[in-house]
This record gives sequence, C-alpha cells and structure tokens, in this order.
Amino acid sequence: MKQDELKKLVGEKSVEWIKDGMTVGLGTGSTVKFMVDALGRRVKTEGLNITGVTTSKATAKQAEDLGITIKSVDAVDHIDLTIDGADEISDDFQGIKGGGAALLFEKIVATNSDKVMWIVDESKMVKNLGAFPLPVEVIPYGSQKVFERFEKKGYQPTFRKSADGNSLLLTDSENYIIDLHLHDILDPETLAADLIKEVGVVEHGLFLNMVNTVIVGRSDGPEVLDA
Ligand code: A5P
Repeated sequence: MKQDELKKLVGEKSVEWIKDGMTVGLGTGSTVKFMVDALGRRVKTEGLNITGVTTSKATAKQAEDLGITIKSVDAVDHIDLTIDGADEISDDFQGIKGGGAALLFEKIVATNSDKVMWIVDESKMVKNLGAFPLPVEVIPYGSQKVFERFEKKGYQPTFRKSADGNSLLLTDSENYIIDLHLHDILDPETLAADLIKEVGVVEHGLFLNMVNTVIVGRSDGPEVLDA
C-alpha cells in the first residue's frame, strides 16, 4: 500500500472513536485531512452533533466546508478527544510534530484534551526521535539571535521557507519556524526544557507524554496501540 493509502486507512479508522455529542480536537496535515473528510461524512449521514476545535486555518476551512460546527478552544469547557497526525513517534510514544507548521495550536488543543490520539502511516514509527527535523516556532523579532544561539549549541538550525521558497514561512500566528537537524534525540525531556526557556521561542515540536492511543497504518490493516 502507498503512504497516502495508509494515511486514508488510519484517518477513516480513527473516526470510530468519535461519538454523538463529543467536542473533538481536529489536528492538521494530510492524514488528518482524511479523518476530517470521514467525520464530515458521518455528521452528514448520521446527523451527529459534533463540535470541532481546530488547530489551523486549513483544518478550520475544511471542517466548516463540511458543515462541522467549529469553536475556539477558549469557548469550550473541555475537549473529549483530539485526533492528530505526527511526524515521528518513538518506541516510548514520544512525538515530533509541526511538519505542517501548526505545532503551537496543536499543542494547545492537545494539552486541553481529555484524550489524544495520533494517526500515522507506519513510516512515522521510529526507535528514537530526531531523524525528522525538530520544528521550533519563534517570534520574528530577535529570531536571528535565537538562530545563532541554536547554531552555537550545534543544533544545525534552518529557517523554514514559504512554499514558493521566496520568503520565510509564516505560521498561523505570524511567527517563523526554525527546524533543528538533530538526527538523534536521546534525551527529549532535557532538550524540551532547554528549548522552551530560550527567549523568543514560542513552542517546540516535542510532544512528550501527551498521547493515549496511536493508530498505525500498516499494509495488513490499522494497528491500534495504547500508549
Ligand atoms: C502539522 O503541523 C503536523 O504536526 C502534522 O500533524 C504532521 O506533520 C503530520 O502530517 P502528515 O499527516 O501530513 O504527515
């Protein structure tokens, strides 16, 4: 099965966990897109009463176009379940997210959710994190200085470019992303603590101790893992 087919498989499987009346966090990315499409179909055919809390402008538009009611995280008293993608998941269920630049809202929504589910194709499952560049969202003012400090620490930073390559990418919150090319992250907790105390850093893509369930798309079917 191709990667896109595996993403579709887990996206469609994951909506089985969504029940009538739930408030659901809707992640971002190509895997989540399949999940939101499947949820839209259920809302239409089964008349489910679902409130969605989205993690990006892109997901908000998709969900609204499908007739899913959307509210801000600040307008709901709790989120029952958030379903999101991931860029890497280690053996001990720690994650890197933010390949789609939505890590800030994704982490806010996940942190305010009763349960978190990640849906991934099997290529995202790794022993240790770090082969995927770690995204760090930074405020534009002073970002060159943050970049230089990351360079001195040996983090091999690169500023993320916009899709056309002509400017720096701006997140939904109008910040920049610095990707760290770390290759092997042996101590994610220490790295996370180090990154978040850097002035100018808004958030980083290490999602530690956050996920409850992972659905992995494999050629012989979806595998459901309890974290
Ligand atoms: C968005 O910022 C990310 O955290 C995505 O959830 C992650 O990059 C997975 O994306 P895909 O589902 O497109 O692989």
